[in-house]
Amino acid sequence: MMWRGLLYHYRDYLPVTEKTPMISLNEGNTPLIRLENLSEKLGIDLYVKVEGANPTGSFKDRGMVMAVAKAKEEGSSTIICASTGNTSAAAAAYAARAGLRCMVVIPDGKIAMGKLAQAVMYGAQIFAIQGNFDEALKMVRRLSEVAPITLVNSVNPYRIEGQKTAAFEICDQLGKAPDILAIPVGNAGNITAYWKGFKEYNEKHQTGLPQMRGFEAEGAAAIVRNQVIENPETIATAIRIGNPASWDKAVQAANESNGKIDEVSDEEILEAYKLLAREEGVFAEPASCASIAGVLKQLKSGEIVKGSTVVAVLTGNGLKDPNVAMDAAAIKPLVLPNDEQILFQHIQGVVHQ
Ligand code: F0G
Repeated sequence: MMWRGLLYHYRDYLPVTEKTPMISLNEGNTPLIRLENLSEKLGIDLYVKVEGANPTGSFKDRGMVMAVAKAKEEGSSTIICASTGNTSAAAAAYAARAGLRCMVVIPDGKIAMGKLAQAVMYGAQIFAIQGNFDEALKMVRRLSEVAPITLVNSVNPYRIEGQKTAAFEICDQLGKAPDILAIPVGNAGNITAYWKGFKEYNEKHQTGLPQMRGFEAEGAAAIVRNQVIENPETIATAIRIGNPASWDKAVQAANESNGKIDEVSDEEILEAYKLLAREEGVFAEPASCASIAGVLKQLKSGEIVKGSTVVAVLTGNGLKDPNVAMDAAAIKPLVLPNDEQILFQHIQGVVHQ
């Protein structure tokens, strides 16, 4: 059967009515890949939910298709968001699809190149403020209260509705919920959405509930430290957020599920980023790899025990952030003259080693 996107496939679980425009870029239905090499090495059954396979390369498409459809259904002509990059890419794409105007507010100089390229290409109006994500979000929240503009950040409940479908897919792909769901935490909308999704699916299909393990970047770990971080810093710019909007809901998800909100350092994130690509052929953006870094950390600490079934959410595609990749990788292209013999010599040297 042809996949027709989330609004169609999960219409019985979503606020879809006869009046809802059934827009789609064929989002959702993303792969759940078993990490064969790392599972063997670590002694757990480790899977990744590859959300970078969505049409704009991140999980944001799940929430955005729902939020944009409802904005259009309600007669809005313009959507707006603050973003560390992925939300703006998804908003711009779905707005283009639905024929709405899109405005995005981003922290100047702090979003990955690929994400900016997307917003530009999809035709959004882009405002780069000399401030951070938290400040941008505060501004667009106030703006949306006084102007006829629909806010499509994850404080828009339709975003959470769309994003919860990833939990449904994991349960269907595994046959049940995993023991542990590891997920990066920035503004904390996604962990909120997954927990809602697991609970709803369990009520309908008795798929069980995972422990929710959320991971903030150490330099932006507001929830872990229990304080707002005024100047968050991390190489994982997607989660460079110091005052998460869904803070309480993330804490609730961790508490209700017997899970935890934890933190990982930039070094741990980069290690996981390289490991995943090199050992498994899976390239996810740095923020996504906070989930893998978290799994490695909690295996060491004993908080994840051998034999567990673990799903790590890879929220965004590695191609989004080519600059971090080029800086992180030890391998660089070897530049040679345009000469077959020289090339052969180099390759033979490698093969004979
Ligand atoms: N991973 C990636 C790749 C993200 O882009 C984000 C958030 C997160 C994880 C964290 O998800 O905020 O629901 O806890 N990106 C937002 C944006 C903030 O503007 O694209 P969260």
